[in-house]
Order: sequence, then C-alpha cells, then structure tokens
Amino acid sequence: MEVFKTKAALKAYLEPLKAAGKKIALVPTMGALHNGHISLIKLAQENADVIVCSIFVNPTQFTDPKDLEKYPRPIEHDLAMLNTAGCSAVFMPNVEEMYPEGAGENWHINLGNAEFLLEGAFRKGHYQGVTQIVKKLFDAVEPDVAMFGQKDYQQVLMIKNMLEHFKLPINIITCPIIREDDGLAMSSRNIHLSKTDRKNALVLSKSLQYVVDNFQSYSFDELVKQAKAFYNDLEGVELDYFTIAKGDTLQPAETKEEKSLVALVAAKVGATRLIDNMIIK
Ligand code: PAF
Repeated sequence: MEVFKTKAALKAYLEPLKAAGKKIALVPTMGALHNGHISLIKLAQENADVIVCSIFVNPTQFTDPKDLEKYPRPIEHDLAMLNTAGCSAVFMPNVEEMYPEGAGENWHINLGNAEFLLEGAFRKGHYQGVTQIVKKLFDAVEPDVAMFGQKDYQQVLMIKNMLEHFKLPINIITCPIIREDDGLAMSSRNIHLSKTDRKNALVLSKSLQYVVDNFQSYSFDELVKQAKAFYNDLEGVELDYFTIAKGDTLQPAETKEEKSLVALVAAKVGATRLIDNMIIK
C-alpha cells in the first residue's frame, strides 16, 4: 500500500494508472477507522480498480474547537486496517497541504435549504466545511467513484448537491450503515463512550427501529412522539432531534405515499454527540 502526503506525489502515482484505463475510487475519511470504513473500502473494490483512501481531520467542518482537538487520530492502527483491507493508496496530507492559504480560506456555495436543517442547524457552517474539503479531495484524486456512509445521511445529500453545483462527473455510492451486534451504528466517536454511555447509546437505534417497525400503524406525529418517549428518564442522554423526513430534501414528511422517507436522530450521550438514521422506504 502506497502512502502519500502531497497532492503532487498522489497525482504522479495516479496518472499512469488513469492512462492505463484503471477506474479510480476515493474513500474520504477522517481516520479512526472501524469496520464501517472498511465496508466502504470493500464496496470501492467492487466498483473500481484502484482504491485511494484519504485520512484528513478537516478543521473547517468542526464547529467546536474542543471536538476537533479530541478527535481520535490512531494513525498506525488506521494504516494497518487499510493495508489488511487491500487498499491501494492512502492520502494523508497535513492542514497546510489542503489549505495553503490557511483554514479560513473563503468558500461558500449554495447547497440548498437542507444545509440548514438537522445537523446544519446544530453545527452552523458544518456542510460548507465538509463540501469544501471533499471538493479539494475530488480535485486532488479526480476519482471515477467516491464512497460515503449512509450514517451521515445529510452529508451524502450535501455532497451530491455540491457535485451538481460544479457539474463533477463522479459517481457517488452510498454504503449502508454498519452496526455492532446490538444495533449501535459504528462511529469513530463511540470510542469516547463510557460503559454506561455505551448502554444508553442503544436508544438511538432502538427508537429508529421502533419507527420503522410501526410506520404503518401511527401518524407521523404519533410516531415521533413515541420515539421521543424512548429518551425520557435516560440519565445523561439529551435528544437534539428526532424526525421523519423526505429522503431527498430532508423536509418534514407529509404523506406516507412519499417515494422516499427516512427517520433521523441526533443525541448527546454523556459528552459524546451521536447521530443515526434508518431508511423507512
Ligand atoms: O464523513 C467524514 O468522515 C468527513 O465528513 C469527510 C467526508 C471525510 C470530510 O471530511
């Protein structure tokens, strides 16, 4: 597995492969890899010949500097996991390489109304930061396909909107959420959960599953009310939102006949903020 720290070195590696007609996949990550990320690598291998995984903790998408500081960076472990998974190349630039003019570089694009909903309402500017770095990574790799996890449902939507904005010819593939045996969605942040938090964190997947299982039996309002009741009296758990939304715009769901519906949740469990979602249809 090749490891590159500069865009120039990565480009020199990719150029002959592209000239030989190889299909390139990009798997963008912030490291602290788990089996959810490895499932992205595996899916990439089914869809391309050369797999580039980027590891970059992107400062412009963090709204809380403390969150950025405490983001886990187990680089040796990450490289070992990627090597075992058969990843072709890792791109792990530093901040100066990605933001030569400093992390305050100007960037603002229209991502549509969904930018300001849900995660966007709790983390102002988050999706501008995400799309800014993903565009830079796309420019550095110029992949044919790029893989993203469904766990960050809204992020995938924002990246698709950014792609549309720049008319980039990249195929975005969304990988289903990978869960622990008891239902907890895998996340780099789970490492911060105490034993009690870990138990309490199951409320996210349980409340989502409840909505999926009972979708036909109650109105949207009733379903959301019942799902929110899962969080009552759970000490140390603070619900940010629980919603059932239209899958393509994230606007609140209006009718059950909608072609795509998704239930999404975010909650603080102890000091760790977790998100999760389940596609209803
Ligand atoms: O999902 C993530 O890990 C990040 O938001 C991404 C897409 C790598 C951009 O920094």
